[in-house]
Amino acid sequence: MLFPQGRSTAAPQLGAMFDTKMEARNKSEQTLAALAVSEPAQIPALFAEIRARFDSEVLSAEDESSWKRFRDAWLGRKSGVLALITDNWLKPATPQLKRAVGQELNQIRAHVESTIEERRKSVEAGAAESAGARDRVDLSLPGVLRPLGSHHLIRQVLQQIEDIFVSIGFSVVEGPEIETPYYNFEALNIPEFHPVRDDMDTFYLQLPKGAPQPLLLRTHTSPMQIRTMEKRQPPVRVIVPGKVYRRDNPDATHSFIFHQVEGLAVDSDITFCDFTGTIEYFVQQFFGPGVKTRFRPSYFPFTEPSVEFDVSCIFCGGSGSAANGGACSKCKGSGWIELFGAGMVDPAVYGFVKYDPKKVSGFAFGMGIDRLAMLKYGIDDIQVFFQNDVRFLRQFP
Ligand code: DAH
Repeated sequence: MLFPQGRSTAAPQLGAMFDTKMEARNKSEQTLAALAVSEPAQIPALFAEIRARFDSEVLSAEDESSWKRFRDAWLGRKSGVLALITDNWLKPATPQLKRAVGQELNQIRAHVESTIEERRKSVEAGAAESAGARDRVDLSLPGVLRPLGSHHLIRQVLQQIEDIFVSIGFSVVEGPEIETPYYNFEALNIPEFHPVRDDMDTFYLQLPKGAPQPLLLRTHTSPMQIRTMEKRQPPVRVIVPGKVYRRDNPDATHSFIFHQVEGLAVDSDITFCDFTGTIEYFVQQFFGPGVKTRFRPSYFPFTEPSVEFDVSCIFCGGSGSAANGGACSKCKGSGWIELFGAGMVDPAVYGFVKYDPKKVSGFAFGMGIDRLAMLKYGIDDIQVFFQNDVRFLRQFP
């Protein structure tokens, strides 16, 4: 029963409102004489009717365009209701009525103007409010998936290396990538024209004329051995991660930029035994307990004796043979893989940092992070570290 009832009550109401309006509009289009108004006493009721109509119509001005139409309907200069009243009622009014009509017209004009202005403000505010509603965040919408970045494999491996050395008492220091020849070479016991400089034939910076000394991109992290010992007295136990640069042509195992971790331990009683024990501990922690290690004699100007440190081949388990029966391609059948250079610090180096070689001893090592990462994760091309192809990076989240 609700529905027919609702309809039957609503319909006549709408009809009645419409009739009232039409009547009022029609009235302003007629003269007072035609409306049979001759007494001043009749005037207030006439205006009250107009005002009632205005007050109910103003509610329909809900947005900017309906507000404009409404304003023109009432204040339009030619055919607005107030203009019609002026033309049809005021101007032709008899002297007897003119005063009353004039007064009422002034009052209703003030009311109409101020109400329309108020309405403009509230329509504008309403528009702003609904624009706000449009921009409001809808918390029920499904979320936007933003993929998180992760550490580059080089950074992850560096972190592993740092953790291992920090756990046995080393601290981490970093140094400049732009070096002087003194730190990169001379203080490491590599004088000018020493043949090992050929390997490190390197990048020099173009400096203004009269610059006090040449500068180069460091070719290894070893200069930080010197800088550290200049600043600290023994005991010294540091590792130095960082980027290094060499004039190498890019291929699967060479890059003109790569990463090293330098290590240095100097104290009053460090022996070769401490050295091998530290390195073996590191390798077992890094690759796992199964790997074997060995030293081979080698040469570096800043260590004496110098060694090349090898691990049993991680790919063939040290057997030297591949799964198909042939020689393992990674270690070329030898069962060993060269890992990094190291040695006991050459007493000549202590001379550059004013340590007394009779009182101190120590060891140093320098390993390529890229190389360690390639061995541990079976990567056969160093270039992938620098290409930043996400298909590669995503394999190491
Ligand atoms: N600086 C050497 C290089 O880049 C690596 C190295 C070898 C560092 C022996 C050392 C070391 O500290 O003792 O080839």
